[in-house]
Amino acid sequence: MTLLPQRYTVTAALPYANGPVHIGHLAGVYLPADIYARYLRAQGRDVKFICGSDEHGVPITIRAQKEGSTPQQVVDKYHALIRDSFRDFNVSFDVYSRTSSPTHAEVSSGFFRKLYDEGKFIEQTTQQLYDEQAAQFLADRYVVGTCPNCGNEHAYGDQCERCGTSLSPTELINPRSMLSGNAPVLRETRHWFLPLDQYEPWLREWIIEGHKADWKTNVYGQCKSWIDQGLQPRAVTRDLDWGVPVPVPGAEGKVLYVWFDAPIGYISATKEAFPDEWELYWKDAGTKLVHFIGKDNIVFHCIIFPAMLRAHGGYILPDNVPANEFLNLEGDKISTSRNWAVWLHEYLRDFPGQADVLRYVLCANAPETKDNDFTWKDFQARNNNELVATLGNFVNRAAVLTQKFFEGRVPERGELTEVDEEVFRQIAEFPGRVGELIENYRFRDALAEVLNLARAGNKYLADTQPWHLIKTDAARTGTVLHVALQLTAALVPLLAPFLPESAQKLAQMLNFEPGDWSSAARADQLPAGHQLQEPALLFAKIEDAVVHAQVQKLLDTKQANALEARHVTAAKENVSFEEFGRMDLRVGTIIAAEKVPKTKKLLKLLIDTGLDQRTIVSGIAESFIPEALLGQQCLVLLNLAPREIKGIQSQGMLLLAENADGSLALMQPGAPVRNGSGVV
Ligand code: 2FM
Ligand code: ZN
Repeated sequence: MTLLPQRYTVTAALPYANGPVHIGHLAGVYLPADIYARYLRAQGRDVKFICGSDEHGVPITIRAQKEGSTPQQVVDKYHALIRDSFRDFNVSFDVYSRTSSPTHAEVSSGFFRKLYDEGKFIEQTTQQLYDEQAAQFLADRYVVGTCPNCGNEHAYGDQCERCGTSLSPTELINPRSMLSGNAPVLRETRHWFLPLDQYEPWLREWIIEGHKADWKTNVYGQCKSWIDQGLQPRAVTRDLDWGVPVPVPGAEGKVLYVWFDAPIGYISATKEAFPDEWELYWKDAGTKLVHFIGKDNIVFHCIIFPAMLRAHGGYILPDNVPANEFLNLEGDKISTSRNWAVWLHEYLRDFPGQADVLRYVLCANAPETKDNDFTWKDFQARNNNELVATLGNFVNRAAVLTQKFFEGRVPERGELTEVDEEVFRQIAEFPGRVGELIENYRFRDALAEVLNLARAGNKYLADTQPWHLIKTDAARTGTVLHVALQLTAALVPLLAPFLPESAQKLAQMLNFEPGDWSSAARADQLPAGHQLQEPALLFAKIEDAVVHAQVQKLLDTKQANALEARHVTAAKENVSFEEFGRMDLRVGTIIAAEKVPKTKKLLKLLIDTGLDQRTIVSGIAESFIPEALLGQQCLVLLNLAPREIKGIQSQGMLLLAENADGSLALMQPGAPVRNGSGVV
């Protein structure tokens, strides 16, 4: 028998306070971490779930420059936005702090100082990129250039986002300063380095020998490849004026590297919130430390931070680092700078009271073993087919039938038949099965199992048909509903880590105080005679118009991005006035629009041209959803010879403006005009 840890420290990567949180962050880090922490608490384990805003480093100063504000204003604004949206998404942190806090400055400087005093750093003067116009060294993201690994021309000085390679600014080909756009020069500067090479044998043993079996393959694989390539000393200070000042003499104008101070932020946040017991959560061997992160953070949490902790001494090391892959959005990489994201605070505004729907979809489709794609169509389908039609439907039927036939009281349980016993067996089994999946960081599978229990409930009702049975055998109907209600009660603790609001709503409806995780295995949570509350719907169907509006918002973003790209093609040859005059250009109105089946790009439009109503097939389906076109005026080339496209006669051509990225905008009169008006 394995001994359970005495306590758990669960951390979620500190998000940079340089922008809001999006669904990629949630699916990759915060949602799995929250499910894990909630599950552990429900098991009665001692847990601290730690997070906060990462407020230092170049990502912050660059954002300040873009917004024309100060770094302090940037972090104040985004820290509040991120903190509040996590709260409204029911992420159950025990502390959400920030790295600009005084405790963090004290803890991180103390950490550096101890390593410095004990001679754990090496001090080196090296050549670094310097912007002469801005009179500043160019750390990390202050430089962009071509990635030596994959040729991406927009790689950052610390990382190439296309191939994921970790870089240093001097490795970039054709570097350019983000401050002035100029080519930087090399200038000497002195910094402190953590000699990672000295920790290599130890890291090799700890990770490669020790964690091959229990760390996820993506995490283990990245670590192994880093270690196999040979570790180099790594600078832990920077020439910047935003960050924790380097606390040693002769370090004016230098701050701790953000990746040195940020992980220490986990420790300082714990200390700040739990000043008397924080050490137990970071120094006691009985504590299990788990870091939830995205895959771009693996090296920092598995190699650099553990080496720092080892150099310092006295701290525990992570037991596991369950990093996820990335979530894409509608087939494209999520990007803050291109505004290609579903932002959490906007979702919460657009879908009030529906945090659980997003939690469900992101967990059911989590990028646990490979990159995955979020689409609004899948969001709608999962809500309507799984939450409404499977889970909500089962719970609702059990509650409504009890209301109808037994005045909302849990009926007596008579003799049990084989089908009833089968339901009780499942109730007894599920908590163990779901719990094991969660403890192995397999949250998608765990959630799928919970849904399977609701499916079993639906099958039980379909097999026993209490709505017919009542006409002939009231006592047996009572037993059936008694069994079905025990199953709904068992769902409450099982759902709670994943969908906390819905679990609470269900508990209210069943009018009971749910117990801990193991109570889910009991088939007697609702005694006979127990009064239920009025049934209420747990989930509501999401209509097409709602998701269409979200899709249109993304298409608008694509257009706006393309406008910025401003790429103009060369002019075509001249045409004569007569040639131009032969074209019959008119204003019309789109009165019907639908997708051409089995095509990606084509829409079939019906246009009122003032002369007639005619069908035009147009390749615009990737830029517009059909509903958004209805009633829009447009310009039409009427006398383009008709042609057949996918079996449809297309009579004319819609005039469109094409952006550099291929996205399209309708050509329209600046003010409404009569259909059929000529364009002259
Ligand atoms: O990648 C990021 O968003 C970083 N801000 C994560 C920091 S995690 C930690 F070490 F604090
Ligand atoms: Zn690259």
